[in-house]
Amino acid sequence: MADQRVRTVTLQQMKREGRKITMLTAYDYPMALIVDRAGIDVILVGDSGGMTVLGYETTIPVTMEEMLMMTRAVTRAVKRAMVVADMPFMSYEAEPAEAVRNAGRFVKEGLAHAVKVERGLPSLAGVRAIVEAGIPVMGHVGLTPQTAVLREGFKVQGRGLDAARHILDDALALEKAGVFSIVLEAIPSALARIITDRLTIPTIGIGAGPDCDGQVLVTHDLLGFFDRFAPKFTKQYADLTKVIGDAVSRFRDDVVEARFPEAAHAFSIDQEVERALLEE
Ligand code: KIV
Repeated sequence: MADQRVRTVTLQQMKREGRKITMLTAYDYPMALIVDRAGIDVILVGDSGGMTVLGYETTIPVTMEEMLMMTRAVTRAVKRAMVVADMPFMSYEAEPAEAVRNAGRFVKEGLAHAVKVERGLPSLAGVRAIVEAGIPVMGHVGLTPQTAVLREGFKVQGRGLDAARHILDDALALEKAGVFSIVLEAIPSALARIITDRLTIPTIGIGAGPDCDGQVLVTHDLLGFFDRFAPKFTKQYADLTKVIGDAVSRFRDDVVEARFPEAAHAFSIDQEVERALLEE
């Protein structure tokens, strides 16, 4: 049977042919199974999982071990999609050698196919070293949540000329450093279009308009399964918080009012055994 696995070359071919790339996050086995079976091209084990499933306020505290555990759960499920693991804050910034060691752990221990690194110029040395070590890297510019929370917060980026030039330069520098694709987050649509046209590698947008080569969302936002906040750029396709909350309440009511379990959920023994037990 032909190998159906999505690879870096597949994504680059999709850009050339004008076919849109789909990417969603997953942090555990059951979600990865569903997302992969639905035909999503790239599954991102995002450090957003630190917020959506581990309950941190921001992505800053997320550790390598937590990211590796989520990555392993995802790769156990996935058959077709390319799995990209997000490198957590301070796992790639200090020294290129440390960036390579940590990226290597995602591939060797997590069985990821690539890693993602946030920001442009400040991350270039690490990105170059990881690419030279043979590990595919996805870039991420515009709003970069790991550092945004320490500075201006979650705000659209690149509206002024200098800021827009800075993001374009970062994207071009990342492409030169060898990344195979770049996430563009929360930037004006026109800037995303210009970057997408200037790059030969695919761009994947989140809050970056319709002209990127692909689109990514945080799956928990898409499913209505994260109720702390919803960025303007997400589209909610379901309300899982309500669906799950209703199911849990119905279970509680059934138990309290003795409607569950019913005969169909219980096991029987022979009457003789029961009688003997009662007589003991
Ligand atoms: O961590 C994440 O989910 C991300 C996406 C927003 C691209 O980086």
